[in-house]
Amino acid sequence: EKGGYDYFMLKEIAEQPKAVADTLLGRIDASGTLSLDEVRIPASVLREVDKVVVVACGTAYHAGLIAKLAIEHWTRIPCETELASEFRYRDPILDQRTLVVAISQSGETMDTLMALRHAREQGAKVLAICNTNGSTIPRESDAVLYTHAGPEVAVASTKAFLTQLVACYLVALYLGQVRGTKWGDEIRAVIRELSEAEAAVERVLETMEPVRALARSLAEKNTVLFLGRHVGYPVALEGALKLKELAYMHAEGFAAGELKHGPIALIEQDLPVVVVVPSPRGRSVLHDKIVSNIQEIRARGARTIVIAEEGDEAVVPYADHLVRIPVTPTLLQPLVATVPLQVFACELATARGNEVDQPRNLAKSVTVE
Ligand code: M6R
Repeated sequence: EKGGYDYFMLKEIAEQPKAVADTLLGRIDASGTLSLDEVRIPASVLREVDKVVVVACGTAYHAGLIAKLAIEHWTRIPCETELASEFRYRDPILDQRTLVVAISQSGETMDTLMALRHAREQGAKVLAICNTNGSTIPRESDAVLYTHAGPEVAVASTKAFLTQLVACYLVALYLGQVRGTKWGDEIRAVIRELSEAEAAVERVLETMEPVRALARSLAEKNTVLFLGRHVGYPVALEGALKLKELAYMHAEGFAAGELKHGPIALIEQDLPVVVVVPSPRGRSVLHDKIVSNIQEIRARGARTIVIAEEGDEAVVPYADHLVRIPVTPTLLQPLVATVPLQVFACELATARGNEVDQPRNLAKSVTVE
């Protein structure tokens, strides 16, 4: 059932190109227009939405942080992303014009379920993004956009995350399409790029051997830090979460702009720091700032593991290890940038003799608080 792989996690990492393609299937028509008929919330209601709130836990929350950037950029609707466990215990301001997006692989996560009940009680419409047909979260939502990752067995989420990203992009682009924002041309171009994502993820998977070797060489380390900005920040958080749950290592993700506000004090000789570098095109200011961050931490002895686009030469002098990812539009970069971090964590777990598919103390779906 592991299809020749030692662990479900390895199988699920390898299945990602197909999972991405399956989640896009039938949702982009020949003219490059999105048709999400299954989202039964009428276009007239979506046009009235004046606020989006995304709720989720763990890895799904990281997808939600990226959704916020995509939704605000392509729709200009204010969007907040919140941990479901925090949201449900405060007094969020919601009404009939709020769209709540609940993201969950299992569809059974108690905190996310309670958050969506809380939202519906206040009249908000809830759209679930879910991987499990007929599970509780989609049943209790107004509408659902299913991810088609297929069953995910390993506790650490991989292919479900990539398909959650795809679903979040589809929702953001669809909202933009329905509401007709000034980004019409960009939206059409990104829809085209999204349909090429399968090939881009495949390309990343083909180049992972050096990442595995690097992971094995770090098996004795205690700490790994992850830095990113903009979409790279949630990717950094996701890389750190994977390492905690699989390798049982101290791992933390930071927004690179926060370095000087504290975390830079942690940098010491030979500390591995993974840096997710934004595209030098698009938001080039951020790119240049990250390159300075890499210089700063390296000058203080960090061992820099740099994830950067093909053709980005500015990072080369400061990268102790360079991992190349395909060129993508800025907002889609997490689809390719996350994959090396999954492989890295899985290999480190193996090198440390940990149980990859069933890490200690964790359950695949968290149906209690
Ligand atoms: O089933 P869900 O997507 O609602 O699960 C949410 C989290 O429990 C889950 O993503 C968890 O963080 C994973 N083990 C991360 O790899």
